[in-house]
Amino acid sequence: MSKILGYPGDFVWGTAVAAHQVEGGNVNDWSEWELKNAEKLAKEAFDRYANVVPDWNAIKGQATDPQNYISGLACDHYHRYKVDIAILKSLGIKAFRFSVEWSRIEPENGKFSDKELEHYREVVQELKNNGIEPWITLWHRTNPLWVENLGGWENKEIVGYYLRFAEKTVRYLGDRVKFWMPINEPVMSFYGGYLGGIYPPGKKDLFAAWKVFRNFSIAHKGAYKIIHDCVADSKVGIPHAVLYTEPYKDRWYNQILVKFLDYFVNWKFLNEVKDSSDFIGVQYYSRRLFNLTLKSNHGHIQLIEEIKPQGCVSDMGWEVYPRGLYFFLKELSKRCHKPIYITENGIADAKDVNREQFIKEHLLWIGRAIEEGVNVKGYFYWSLLDNLEWNKGFWPKFGLVEVNHKTFERKIRDSAYKFSEIIKNNYLD
Ligand code: BGC
Repeated sequence: MSKILGYPGDFVWGTAVAAHQVEGGNVNDWSEWELKNAEKLAKEAFDRYANVVPDWNAIKGQATDPQNYISGLACDHYHRYKVDIAILKSLGIKAFRFSVEWSRIEPENGKFSDKELEHYREVVQELKNNGIEPWITLWHRTNPLWVENLGGWENKEIVGYYLRFAEKTVRYLGDRVKFWMPINEPVMSFYGGYLGGIYPPGKKDLFAAWKVFRNFSIAHKGAYKIIHDCVADSKVGIPHAVLYTEPYKDRWYNQILVKFLDYFVNWKFLNEVKDSSDFIGVQYYSRRLFNLTLKSNHGHIQLIEEIKPQGCVSDMGWEVYPRGLYFFLKELSKRCHKPIYITENGIADAKDVNREQFIKEHLLWIGRAIEEGVNVKGYFYWSLLDNLEWNKGFWPKFGLVEVNHKTFERKIRDSAYKFSEIIKNNYLD
């Protein structure tokens, strides 16, 4: 029996990308880090992924090739944005979330590039000409090299530099852009860069992480004020990564562990910035199951064990668990009465066999949350294009559109047409 689920008339249907992942030709802290780490990442690929992904043979070629980890020309979106915007239009997608690249706009401390600001103005104009609303993220994980040389986000002076860049950009584009997101997933960035050591600058330092936490929070609040001062009627939101966790076998000690993780990852930063946010951007991908343990792992004591998912997983081994998004949305709407947009949700699925179902099931649970009174106002699929998945390189394929990273040819996947049908109908059948 099928049920038709409608979405509010003004529901925003979009897709998202981030500058460094798609533009190509960027020189920033990530591009430097890629060059230094590509060989190592390729060598470690088997140990990292062979037991995690569903089909190691399918990714082996790319994952063990150092070139996979170097952004290079990425999707060449910088030069081909018109082609990509034409694809958005053909699919009926009404909103496009993208980030501007700080290292392009301000390649040297205090020296702003009019040419690059103009480039983003042209992108915005092209979107507008095609009836697509631009949603801009000011910072999506990458820093200019001079920022990195000044100590990166650990240094509180960077907040001032970031706000100067934010103001310049917002003043330049603000007459045409209403929706702004100052910093993408602050929690993931300070976890990856300062606690987990997996993103630049590759640290594992609690004190440094704390400083970055504080500086991101001040930066978000400062940008919120600047954007409102510069752009009448603007809407500023926090794109927030959700780590949806459940306790393995419901054991009491796993419940405590999960509560602890939930508080620190999902709520602590959000609590800090929610009053300086007009909307909350929820970025949801998967569920993680944790077990408290005491094991020896390659000579280290392991305290937290992640349980391998049993059901449907993405090409990266991430569990497909749409219900988790519903649970999070319900909790969020209890704790914070702000409009919610799903600013990222997607799956790495090179063969495009699970993407349609993935999107539909997530939309189903979002629809259910809306029916129960949760104020979800839009959905952005991640991502428009197959792109650089940060420290994993190009092998994970999140795109509605397949990209050949040598010829830059684009091919719209079948699931994109299915997504397009949902958008056109504004309902899920
Ligand atoms: C990030 C994206 C990333 C996606 C999939 C989000 O955490 O904002 O840049 O590609 O997740 O991992």
